[in-house]
Amino acid sequence: MKTFNGRVAAITGAASGMGRALALALAREGCHLALADKNAQGLAQTLDLIRTSTLSPVLVTTQVLDVSDRQAMYAWAARCMAEHGEVNLVFNNAGVALSSTVEAVDYADLEWIVDINFWGVVHGTKAFLPYLKASGDGHVINTSSVFGLFAQPGMSGYNATKFAVRGFTEALRQELDLQRCGVSATCVHPGGIRTDICRSSRIDANMTGFLIHSEQQARADFEKLFITDADQAAKVILHGVRKNKRRVLIGRDAYFLDLLARCLPSAYQALVVFASKRMAPKARMPVFETNDEPRL
Ligand SMILES: NC(=O)c1ccc[n+]([C@@H]2O[C@H](COP(=O)([O-])OP(=O)(O)OC[C@H]3O[C@@H](n4cnc5c(N)ncnc54)[C@H](O)[C@@H]3O)[C@@H](O)[C@H]2O)c1
Repeated sequence: MKTFNGRVAAITGAASGMGRALALALAREGCHLALADKNAQGLAQTLDLIRTSTLSPVLVTTQVLDVSDRQAMYAWAARCMAEHGEVNLVFNNAGVALSSTVEAVDYADLEWIVDINFWGVVHGTKAFLPYLKASGDGHVINTSSVFGLFAQPGMSGYNATKFAVRGFTEALRQELDLQRCGVSATCVHPGGIRTDICRSSRIDANMTGFLIHSEQQARADFEKLFITDADQAAKVILHGVRKNKRRVLIGRDAYFLDLLARCLPSAYQALVVFASKRMAPKARMPVFETNDEPRL
């Protein structure tokens, strides 16, 4: 897809961060938009920003929904078709973050992140795929993370969902290439991007004293690692779609960690352990009684 002018893009997670930046960038290029998020207020703000900052007369529709709700996602896809007549691009971008050890993580938190980060992407892909095929020129853009290429202690839930999005999208791309159906797929792996993700993430209490000193400090430290802004990230994503790239990395941190994982595919883990000890010198693994029953 060389131009977005006159196309229709559906974007999840459009109330904030990269989803909002993608909406604004696409509107500036004359792309019609179907925007979804669970945050109604943020979605309305995105709509206002599009109206005030772009001159293009694009049709913008909004839908408040939870991407983990399969029925709601299919109903939204059908509504996009009814209101826009076609859909050419779907950006499965909505996501959340979770910090916890494997041993102590609650199943409820794991299910929460898998439902949004993995199932949300699956729902968006499958609900829109028939419409993208019907358009004759479609593209699925699924947001993984640099943590879909590289694992880190305390991020197992996030890592699991983002590795899953990568596998799902890479297999999808190969199927679409084989089918020559006019639809393509790109997997996006951002490094640290300045958005609201850190503020909305869940940090389990078991992380304090292990890899972090306090929740507040951890959020502040994480944000220092966010070196790319969301508008720049959107630009890189849209460039990748134009070039029909299979994989899009965003930020020099993503390139560095990707290179590390390629050069040292398993040994990089020892380096992460070493670095983690240096970054949290007083932190220790929380002590669990060896006769504790596994927690359900
Ligand atoms: N910011 C980063 O450093 C970074 C790095 C790598 C990957 N990512 C990924 O990029 C994507 C976008 O995140 P962002 O950084 O712009 O964060 P963000 O928090 O600014 O935006 C995420 C949006 O998703 C929405 N959302 C969350 N749960 C939802 C649900 N159940 N249903 C519908 N909408 C929901 C939120 O309301 C929010 O508007 C996510 O998938 C995230 O995992 C972010």
